[in-house]
Amino acid sequence: MFTPLLIILSLFSLTIPSSSSSSADVCIIGSGISGSSVAHFLRQYSLTTTTIAGIHMFDRHPVVGGRMATVTIAGETFEAGASILHPKNYHALNFTHMLDLKVKGPSPDDNAFSLGIWDGKQFLFKTIDSKSKSQVVQYFVSLANSVRMFLRYGISLLKMTSFVEVTVDSFLKYYESKESRPIFSTVEDMLKWAGLYNLTTHTLEDELVGLKYSPLLIQELITVITRINYGQSVRISGLAGAVSLAGSGGDLWAVEGGNWQMAAGLVNRSDVTLHLQEEIESVTNLGDFYELNSTKGNSYTCQVTVVATPLDELNIQFTPVISIPKRELQHTHATFVRGLLNPAYFGLNAVSDIPELVGTIESPELPFTCISVLKEHSAEDMTYKMFSRQSLTDALLDQIFSIRKETLRIDWGAYPHYHAPEKFAPFMLDDMHLYYVNAFENAASTMETGAVAAENIARLILSRLSGQWPQNSYGLKTSTSNSNLQHPEL
Ligand SMILES: Cc1cc2nc3c(=O)[nH]c(=O)nc-3n(C[C@H](O)[C@H](O)[C@H](O)COP(=O)(O)OP(=O)(O)OC[C@H]3O[C@@H](n4cnc5c(N)ncnc54)[C@H](O)[C@@H]3O)c2cc1C
Ligand SMILES: *[C@@H]1O[C@H](CO)[C@@H](O)[C@H](O)[C@H]1NC(C)=O
Ligand SMILES: *[C@@H]1O[C@H](CO)[C@@H](O)[C@H](O)[C@H]1NC(C)=O
Ligand SMILES: *[C@@H]1O[C@H](CO)[C@@H](O)[C@H](O)[C@H]1NC(C)=O
Ligand SMILES: *[C@@H]1O[C@H](CO)[C@@H](O)[C@H](O)[C@H]1NC(C)=O
Repeated sequence: MFTPLLIILSLFSLTIPSSSSSSADVCIIGSGISGSSVAHFLRQYSLTTTTIAGIHMFDRHPVVGGRMATVTIAGETFEAGASILHPKNYHALNFTHMLDLKVKGPSPDDNAFSLGIWDGKQFLFKTIDSKSKSQVVQYFVSLANSVRMFLRYGISLLKMTSFVEVTVDSFLKYYESKESRPIFSTVEDMLKWAGLYNLTTHTLEDELVGLKYSPLLIQELITVITRINYGQSVRISGLAGAVSLAGSGGDLWAVEGGNWQMAAGLVNRSDVTLHLQEEIESVTNLGDFYELNSTKGNSYTCQVTVVATPLDELNIQFTPVISIPKRELQHTHATFVRGLLNPAYFGLNAVSDIPELVGTIESPELPFTCISVLKEHSAEDMTYKMFSRQSLTDALLDQIFSIRKETLRIDWGAYPHYHAPEKFAPFMLDDMHLYYVNAFENAASTMETGAVAAENIARLILSRLSGQWPQNSYGLKTSTSNSNLQHPEL
C-alpha cells in the first residue's frame, strides 16, 4: 500500500471531479465517531438537500461505534474502549445533548480514588486511601495527598496544569464559527492554524525537559498517564502527550450506558443507509464515481468516498493505488476480571492496601500497564480493568488475582504508535473525492479529535462538491507544493 509519492502525484491528472450539477451519493467506511460525525455534519451543513443524496455507511462489525464499545462482565456493562471525555469536548457534549443521552459525571468517590505507582517490585508512590464517606475527611485526605505529591515531584506539578491548559485552549479554535474558521485540506495546515503543529514535531519528554520539569515527575507520574492513555512512553509526541495529560484531570465524563450511543444516535438522525457486517474490500476509481466492493459480494457506487477508519492494518485494495506514510498501531490488550486481586503479588498483606488505580513506569519486566477497580461489588468481589501491551496469560493472571470468576480479553488496534516528528497522511487521498478522516489520528486519537476532523472533512466535501473550493481554503500552497499540481477548478 505504501508506494512512492510519485504514484499519488500521477493521480493529479486532469480528470474533472464530479461537479456541482447534481446531488452526490456518499459512501462512508466505518461507523465509529469519525464516520458517524461525517454523516451528521454533511446533513447539518448541506444547505439544500440536493447536494448530498444518499449516505451509505459500512461497518465490518455487527454494531456501530468502533472503538467506542461496551463489555458485559458478570451481568454488568462497562466501557471497553474509549471511556472518558473532557469537559471541553464540545462536539461530544453537543451530540450527547442533541441525542437526549445522559452525561455520567465522576462519582464523588472517583475523585478521592487512590493511586499507586508500581515498578514491578514495589510501589514508588502511593496516595492515602480514604474509605470514609465524610466530605470533610475526604477533603483533608485529598489535601494530604497533594502535599505528598508536592514533596515527591516538586513545584513542576503546577506546570503540568498550565501546559495542558495552553494546549486545550489552542484546540478550542476548532469550535470558532465557520465564518472565521478555514476549511483545511491537510492535517498540517489544520494543526498550524491552531498553533498545535510544533508539538507534533518533538516528543513529550523533550517538551517537558525543555520546560524544566523534574525528571522524577516525567519518569513516574507522567509516564503512568501516557501509558494508561496511549499504552506508550513519554516518547510520544508533545501533542499526544498533552492530550493524555488533559485526560487525567478532574470533571471527566462519559455517556451513561455507553459512549457508542453517540455514533448510534448520529447515524439514526442523518438519514444513513447502514450496512453492518459488511466489510469493504476494494475501492476503485471509475472516473466520475467510486465502486466499493464488499465481502458480501455487493458493489456500491458513490461520487464521494470517506475512509473513517485507520488504514494501517487493513487490506482495502485501492485502484489507483494510494500512498500514505507508514504508521503502526499500538495494540492495547484490555482484560476484564471479576474477582479479587492477590495482595501478596504486590508484597502487601491486605487487598484493601492495593490502590484502586495501579499505574506503572516504563520497565521491560512489567507485564501490564495498569489495573483499576471498575466496581466494588463487595470487599471480596470486584470488577477490574487491566491494560497491557501483550496478552495476559492465565498463568500470570493466577498470580495477580486470588479469585478469578470471569475473565474477558479484547485486543485493540488502539491508536497510532506515535513517533515525533509525526508524518501525516493527506485528508484527500486523491484529487477527486476520496477522503481520509483518520489522517488526523497522528495528532492525537480521541473521540473528540475524531469528531473535529470529521467536521472539517464534511466542510471540505461540501465546498469541493459545490465548486467553491478552493476559495476560503487555508494554506493551499503547502497542500499542493508542486506548482504543476493545481486543482482542476483553478
Ligand atoms: C482501549 C482504548 C481506550 C481509549 N480511551 C479513550 C478515552 O478514554 N477517550 C477518548 O476520547 N478516546 C479514547 N480512545 C481512542 C478512541 O477510541 C478513538 O480515537 C476513536 O474512538 C476513534 O474513532 P474512529 O471513528 O475514528 O475509528 P473507529 O472507532 O475505529 O471506527 C472505525 C470503524 O470502521 C470499521 N471498519 C474498519 N475497516 C472496515 C472495512 N474495510 N469495511 C467496513 N468497516 C470497516 C471498524 O469495524 C470500526 O467500527 C481509546 C481507544 C482504545 C482502544
Ligand atoms: C453546541 O451547540 C450550541 C447550541 O446549539 C451551539 O451554540 C454551539 O456552537 C455548538 N458547539 C459546537 C462545537 O458545535
Ligand atoms: C515552531 O517551531 C519553529 C522552529 O522550531 C519556530 O520557528 C516557531 O516559532 C514555532 N512556532 C510556534 C507557534 O511555537
Ligand atoms: C431514532 O431517532 C428517532 C427520532 O428521530 C427516535 O424516535 C428513535 O428512537 C431513534 N432510534 C434509535 C434506535 O435510536
Ligand atoms: C467489483 O465488483 C464488480 C461487480 O461484481 C466487478 O466487476 C469488479 O471487477 C470488482 N472490482 C474489484 C476491484 O474487485
